Amino acid sequence: MKSDMVPFRMAGNLYFVGCKKASSHLLDTGEGLILIDTGYEENAETIVNSMSELGFDIRDVKYIIHSHGHYDHTFATAKLVKLSGAKTFLNHRDIHYLEGRFTPDFDIKDGDIIKLGKTEILCLETPGHTEGTISFFFNIEENGKIYRAGMFGGAGTNQLKKDFLKSQGLNTLPRGQFFKSIERLRNEHVDIFIGNHSWQNDTQGNYEKSLVSEINPFIDETRWGAFLNKLEKDLWTVIENESKTHFINYAHRGASEYLPENTFLAFYTGVYMGANGIETDVHVTKDGVAVLFHDDTLDRVTGESGIVSEKTYEELAEMFVSKNEFQDKIVRFEDFLDKFSFRDLTFAIELKQKGTAKQVADILRKYDIKDKVVITSFDFESVCDMREYAPEFNAGFLAKEVTDELLLEMKKRNISEICPKATLVNEENVRKWHYEGFNVRAWGVSNEDLMKTVYEAGADGMTVNFPDKLAEYIKINRDMEEEK
Ligand code: G3P
Ligand code: CA
Repeated sequence: MKSDMVPFRMAGNLYFVGCKKASSHLLDTGEGLILIDTGYEENAETIVNSMSELGFDIRDVKYIIHSHGHYDHTFATAKLVKLSGAKTFLNHRDIHYLEGRFTPDFDIKDGDIIKLGKTEILCLETPGHTEGTISFFFNIEENGKIYRAGMFGGAGTNQLKKDFLKSQGLNTLPRGQFFKSIERLRNEHVDIFIGNHSWQNDTQGNYEKSLVSEINPFIDETRWGAFLNKLEKDLWTVIENESKTHFINYAHRGASEYLPENTFLAFYTGVYMGANGIETDVHVTKDGVAVLFHDDTLDRVTGESGIVSEKTYEELAEMFVSKNEFQDKIVRFEDFLDKFSFRDLTFAIELKQKGTAKQVADILRKYDIKDKVVITSFDFESVCDMREYAPEFNAGFLAKEVTDELLLEMKKRNISEICPKATLVNEENVRKWHYEGFNVRAWGVSNEDLMKTVYEAGADGMTVNFPDKLAEYIKINRDMEEEK
C-alpha cells in the first residue's frame, strides 16, 4: 500500500514520509536515519514504501522518536522496529497510550538532546495535548545556510474539549498546560515549521508550491508564531463556547429557596425547575451514617437542639427539615444516590465534616457516578484527603479568596475546579483561572444580579437556591445566541 501523499525532501536532510492523516518525517543524519512519529498501524507499510521511493532503506533507521503517545503517531512503530531494529523514544507519561504495543527504549525528558551523526534534536516537554508531549527542534542545512526546524509535538485542541478529556479520565487542567506550552514555544525561533499533521503546515500545498518555485516554501520564519497564535485562539474558543454549552446550573441544597434544603422535595423540585446539577452537603452521624445536612447543628432547619455528628441516624430519622409551609425528612446519602445517581445530572458533593473523605468516596464508588461528580469542601485538607484516597473523582475547592499560591497548590494536587465566592467572579478573573486550566464554578449567588454577572463572566457553573430563575435566564441567552 502506498501513502496518499507523495514522499519528498522538505529541506536539507529532512524528508516527508507520512500520509494525510498522520505525518512522519525522516532525518538523514549521515550515520543512520531518524524517524519522527510513525502513524496508524497500516502506516508501517506506507512509510516503508515512501522511504524506498526516496531511496532509503527501513533497515537504516536507527531511532524512532515520538512527539506523543496517541495511536496516530505510534501504532505503526512496533512493526517498523521489527523491520529496522531501531531504538524508540517517548516520554514516560505517554506510555499508557501504547496499549502495550511496544516498550520505548528511551524516556525523552525536558532538555534532552538526541544525537545521531550530524543531527542534534533538542527535546522540550510541552504537555497539554497529552501529559507527555515533546516538541522537537533541530538545525537543517540548505544551500549552505542553517535553518532552525521545529515541531510542536501536540497541537490539537479538540483533545482539550471537556467531553474528550472526560473520556480519557482527565480533568481540565491540561488546558492550562497547553497555554503554558504555547508560551514556552514562543521563545523558540523556527524557520521551518514542521507539522505532525499535514494540515498544520499545509504540507501538501507547500510541496506543490515547491515543485514550481525557486524558493523553498517551507522556509518561512513567520509561520511558527502565527500557528501558535491560532492554537491559543482555538483553545479560547473551545473554553468560551463550553462555558455556555456545558454550563452547570446546580440546585443548591436542591431548590432551597422554596423548599426544605437538602431534602428529596428540594432535589426533585430543583431538577423539575431545570437544574442540570445538584449540590448537597454531607455529614456523618455518630453511628457512621452519611446524611445530607448543611449545618453542624440541627436547630436552624429542624428546630431541634444538638449536633448532627453526635446523633444517631435513628434519632435524625425522626426529625423534619422545614421551609415555608413545607417539611421533609433528612436524607441518607446512599438513598439520595439510589434515586439520582443514574440521572443525567452533575453532582457537587460538599464535605462538611473533617475526616469523612474516605467514607464519602467509598459510598460514591458503589455507584456509576465517577464522570459526573465533583467533590468539594471549604476545608483544603478534606479536598486533599479525597484526592489522595480517591483520585478518580474530580475535586474542587470552595474559596473565599483566590490567590496565586492557592491555585499552585491546587494544581500540584490535581484539584481542577476552583469554586470562588460569587462576588469574586468577573470576566478578568474567570479568564485568568481558565488560563490556568481550572473549571470555574461559583458559590454564594445570593441574588439575580449576581447570578447574571457570574454567567456573563464566562464561569462554567454556579450553585443557586433558585435554579428556575437561572434556567430561564440561560434559555433567554441561548435563544438570543441562536437568533444571531
Ligand atoms: O456551592 C457551594 C456552597 O454550597 C457553599 O456554601 O454554605 O451553602 O455550603 P454552603
Ligand atoms: Ca454546600
